[in-house]
Amino acid sequence: MRKLLLIPVLALAACNSGAEEPSQLTLQELEVPSVVQPSFAIVGIEHEHLARLMQVSPSIYSGAQPHTAAAFASLKELGIKTVVSVDGARPNIEAAALEGLQYIHIPIGYDAISESAGDAFAKVMAEAELPVYFHCHHGRQRGPAGAAIALRASTHCDATTALAVLEAAGTSAKYSGLWRDVEGWMAPRPGKLTAELVSIQELPTFTVKMADLDRTWDRIKLLRKADWESVSLIPETQLLLQQLQDSAGQIPAEYIQDQKLHSGLEEVIGFAERLQRAAEALDKDLLEESYSDLRASCNDCHADYRNK
Ligand code: HEC
Repeated sequence: MRKLLLIPVLALAACNSGAEEPSQLTLQELEVPSVVQPSFAIVGIEHEHLARLMQVSPSIYSGAQPHTAAAFASLKELGIKTVVSVDGARPNIEAAALEGLQYIHIPIGYDAISESAGDAFAKVMAEAELPVYFHCHHGRQRGPAGAAIALRASTHCDATTALAVLEAAGTSAKYSGLWRDVEGWMAPRPGKLTAELVSIQELPTFTVKMADLDRTWDRIKLLRKADWESVSLIPETQLLLQQLQDSAGQIPAEYIQDQKLHSGLEEVIGFAERLQRAAEALDKDLLEESYSDLRASCNDCHADYRNK
């Protein structure tokens, strides 16, 4: 913890926790709401290797995806025993295993938290080794939503307290389904913790491609910050184009007839082609223009098809 700078974000007011050992929670305790007992604070932690790290309770942390060996080592140093990814990308179970960490994959979208995902979060808190680190990609939207439900499941806190996790994480109001489902989460009935916990969940190829190209997009954002001056600019723009073309070849069956989605993908591919040409010519104006068009195109399609 030496490298950590603690920044208290806000105090929790309506949770029952701290005193009891969370790993000993029984099913019954999970289901019977108990007394209100102020105990701990949600704490934002500035960390060298883990972006948006936040301690939500003594047994729950959330943050961005651990990308490096140092990030996994830091999780271990924090005392984390289980890592839960709610992201579409394949969890790096090998890197986690090197630090003795167990991975559990409970992918969710930006539009909603299904009942089975909600049950799975409760099951993690009842059965996995604690503390748990919840992460998505950037640690701002879906990871905190998973952590907020885990908080409800493990402490019986009220909805307002759980929503404070999203507030502390800076979760965007535009993901209204995440806010709604954290607020509306209901504890699973006895015998209903049937969700199967797995370390890698198979997902539709389109989702995985999107998750993968998002990593490339992040690296392109960094290249932009460095004023586009890098030997990896051309390879990265080529990779983005390739990944967008690949996802266009993997449109989910439910959208196969959807002309608007097809044209959205054609449009974004056109912008990615232009970005690549601009990279080859190192034409910074055209790079900027193509970057903005791409970003708008990702956002427009997500507003229609992903976020609600
Ligand atoms: C024409 C539509 C469209 C465009 C353009 C598009 N996406 Fe997506 N994206 C989707 C849909 C639909 C989903 C939801 C897939 C699902 O949940 O199965 C998605 C999901 C995602 C996800 C979530 C993956 C996960 O972990 O579940 C990320 C991240 C993402 N897109 C990034 C991007 C980026 C970055 C761009 C632009 C470079 C982009 N997308 C362009 C339609 C699009």
